[in-house]
Amino acid sequence: MTSTAQKQDVVDLLLRQHEEIKSLFAQVRGATGDQKRQAFQQLVRLLAVHESAEEQVVHPAARDDAGDAVVDARLHEENEAKHVLSQLYDLGVDAPDFDARFAEFEQAVVAHATHEEQEEFPELRRKTDPERLRRMAGAVRAAEAVSPTRPHPSAGESATANMLAGPPVAVFDRMRDAVRDWRQSHKD
Ligand SMILES: [Fe+2]
Ligand SMILES: [Fe+2]
Repeated sequence: MTSTAQKQDVVDLLLRQHEEIKSLFAQVRGATGDQKRQAFQQLVRLLAVHESAEEQVVHPAARDDAGDAVVDARLHEENEAKHVLSQLYDLGVDAPDFDARFAEFEQAVVAHATHEEQEEFPELRRKTDPERLRRMAGAVRAAEAVSPTRPHPSAGESATANMLAGPPVAVFDRMRDAVRDWRQSHKD
């Protein structure tokens, strides 16, 4: 691990992932056929990594800092997003109304990320010990270790990626377990 990586706190990693999520939305929009399916699956994995770390580690910590109303609103948006993601998966990227529904989903996810960036993360940074925020980055890294979130440079998907193909509910369950394992071995 580089010293830069060690200094990054959980908010740094989540902000970086917000940008990666937006770029994957654009990739799905711009692709067709197998490429579109693959980009969509990559988006499922990244959202699973990202939201699992937020739900289990970041939002609970933010309750004291940003308040219950802010955190409950974010959790509601995340549950709704998981529901819509499953519907999109069942629909399939080739369905005639996929693009219109995907565009609505993108708007909702981007709005959700903006709410976190404006209402939650600044309060978390202001009121939580910086060392604790750096430790919390471990939850994001643990989830990323299960499912690489960066685009694969080679065309062939790894065995791990294949294992993580499939319905969003199953992918989110695996990520939840990965973050829970991390939590059980760390106090935060
Ligand atoms: Fe979130
Ligand atoms: Fe987020």
